[in-house]
Amino acid sequence: MTPEQRIEHYPAIEDLRQIAKRRMPHFAWEYLDSGTGLEKAVQRNRDALDKVMITPKGLKGFDKIKLNTSLFGNEYDLPFGISPVGMTGLMWPGAELMLAETARKKNIPYCLSTVGCETPESVGKIAQKNAWFQLYTFADWKINEDLLKRAADSGFSTLVITVDVPIPSMRERQRRAGLRVPPKITPQFLMEVAKRPAWALATLKHGKPAFRMLQKYASSEDMRELTKFIASQRIGGAYMWKDLIRFREIWKGPIVIKGLLDVADAKQAIEHGMDAIVVSNHGGRQFDGAPASISVLPEIADAVNGKVKILFDSGVRTGLDVLRALALGADYVFAGRPFLYGAAAMGQVGGDHVVDILKADLENNMIQLGVNDIADLRNLKILDFDQ
Ligand SMILES: Cc1cc2nc3c(=O)[nH]c(=O)nc-3n(C[C@H](O)[C@H](O)[C@H](O)COP(=O)(O)O)c2cc1C
Repeated sequence: MTPEQRIEHYPAIEDLRQIAKRRMPHFAWEYLDSGTGLEKAVQRNRDALDKVMITPKGLKGFDKIKLNTSLFGNEYDLPFGISPVGMTGLMWPGAELMLAETARKKNIPYCLSTVGCETPESVGKIAQKNAWFQLYTFADWKINEDLLKRAADSGFSTLVITVDVPIPSMRERQRRAGLRVPPKITPQFLMEVAKRPAWALATLKHGKPAFRMLQKYASSEDMRELTKFIASQRIGGAYMWKDLIRFREIWKGPIVIKGLLDVADAKQAIEHGMDAIVVSNHGGRQFDGAPASISVLPEIADAVNGKVKILFDSGVRTGLDVLRALALGADYVFAGRPFLYGAAAMGQVGGDHVVDILKADLENNMIQLGVNDIADLRNLKILDFDQ
């Protein structure tokens, strides 16, 4: 199928989501698709994005649509990239390598998660200059230093420190589905896997999902030992604001703080010498009482006033959503689940297809509005929306 035919047959992320659901074992699907608590924050992200309305202008014609965006001195072809997603290999074996390839081909950023299933060494080779590295901090400072060295040596340009996971959240759906790390081989588990032969076969070929990046620190490849080790490291929750200064000293490239929703926190990030923030509620997966990311974006953009870059994620499912975030003050937009739906639905071309869907929809909606250049989206009049 050509990319054009794929757009005809599967024009939306929801199409890929439905296919992914049929191809993934239930426990992996629940891990990917769920939020936490009553999943109100997931719904809030969607509802708030839908409320952002912009009046189209007539008789503006259209020219070549300009989507390329420069960020930290890098020129990207599109204003959106791939958010870090952990345990990727559980959702689709080798998904990280596929998405890294998508990122290089399409010239967009790919952010590798600390708790992903591949190493910086393997992903760096594929994503090359498009590789970003997401760090969950470890209590043992030497591990942070070593991880950053490995990322820098592997060509990763940008460090993303995620700060909205002080501890894992409840994730009730995931628990109910019986997802354990490491997976416990129960009759239910075997039945789920047997029902998804394509996933089982791909797992056999690629190898079991594992925290490959972290094996070296726990001196064990055993997932049970690794999981115990990760818990002992208070991963993600070991540090406070003042500790960021140490990262600033070590990492020579840009540093992005991911997971802020508060104006005062955004200001703190600037004071601590960070280069950007990601306005994000982790796709509604951490704190079910959080506001939608898009609802707080305008006030944060106002307060930051161009001092650092503002990146955005949580709930983006269409090119129109990308447009909405850019219009409300984001400099760059990311999506998480959509790329995994793509990889699980179609393998390598699935990641590429997610980019094609978002791009086609973004271009189309810019033309509807009479805007040729994404830089001009900031000047649009947004209708008041109830936050
Ligand atoms: C399955 C899954 C795993 C994730 N793992 C991580 C992670 O390891 N590190 C991180 O910073 N964010 C992680 N996130 C959050 C994403 O980076 C991103 O903030 C979120 O997916 C955005 O929302 P969206 O899925 O609606 O696009 C994860 C998200 C999902 C769906």
